[in-house]
Amino acid sequence: MSVSLSYHRIGQGAPLVLLHGFPLDGAFWNPILPYLREHFDCIVPDLRGFGASPLTEPGYTLEEMAADLSALLVELDISAAFLAGHSMGGYIALAFARCFNDQLLGLALLGTQAAPDAPERRQLRYETIEQVRRDGIAPVLGMAEKLTFDLRHTPSLRQIIQRQHPVGVMGALQAMAERPDALPGLATLTVPVVIVHGLQDGLVPVERARQMHAVLPQAYLLELPGVGHSPPYEAPEQTAQAVIRLVKDG
Ligand code: MLT
Repeated sequence: MSVSLSYHRIGQGAPLVLLHGFPLDGAFWNPILPYLREHFDCIVPDLRGFGASPLTEPGYTLEEMAADLSALLVELDISAAFLAGHSMGGYIALAFARCFNDQLLGLALLGTQAAPDAPERRQLRYETIEQVRRDGIAPVLGMAEKLTFDLRHTPSLRQIIQRQHPVGVMGALQAMAERPDALPGLATLTVPVVIVHGLQDGLVPVERARQMHAVLPQAYLLELPGVGHSPPYEAPEQTAQAVIRLVKDG
């Protein structure tokens, strides 16, 4: 069952839904919005379990989180939209592409991957779920350092993490752990795709972006030196220029 997402909306142009990563909320997109709002009608939801959106009992999938977005587009009377997903938001964007292809105009995959979790990563997520159940969100606060190469961004990212609810954090960890391999689906996409990745990404190595580009060579790939896991936050102008390619020729 889909839930009704909290969102804000700014700008003019083709509809672009911006999907934040883990364990964040829509505020993650604030630095890039000034560059995107001239080109897109930017729709910025808090994903299920984050920000002001509803919490549901963990056990839901990324496909269900994608269904929330499909329902949001219907609610807004938008027949199809571009999606930009950062990290977990990219996993959800890929799930959306699999399940709701007819509502998709194009994809921006930012600091993300189509590969599923390796068994060790999956195991670590289940351990983190147990820690969060016991200690609240404290065990994921350290993500703030891992999200960026430039540590000047750490305090503001930590502030976003601090306001998240443990139940939403646990739900997203489980959904990410159980996600399928999205590479076969990605290879069949016919809509425009851009891929942006930081060369200093310590959470999702740049090889994962190259792996996506290898199955979809017509996609535009931008690799950013000196940037870590969060291109939209760390290099908003360059990332926005790549996203704008979805609606404008290079
Ligand atoms: C994210 O930034 O959304 C997460 O690091 C993704 C992940 O843990 O795989």
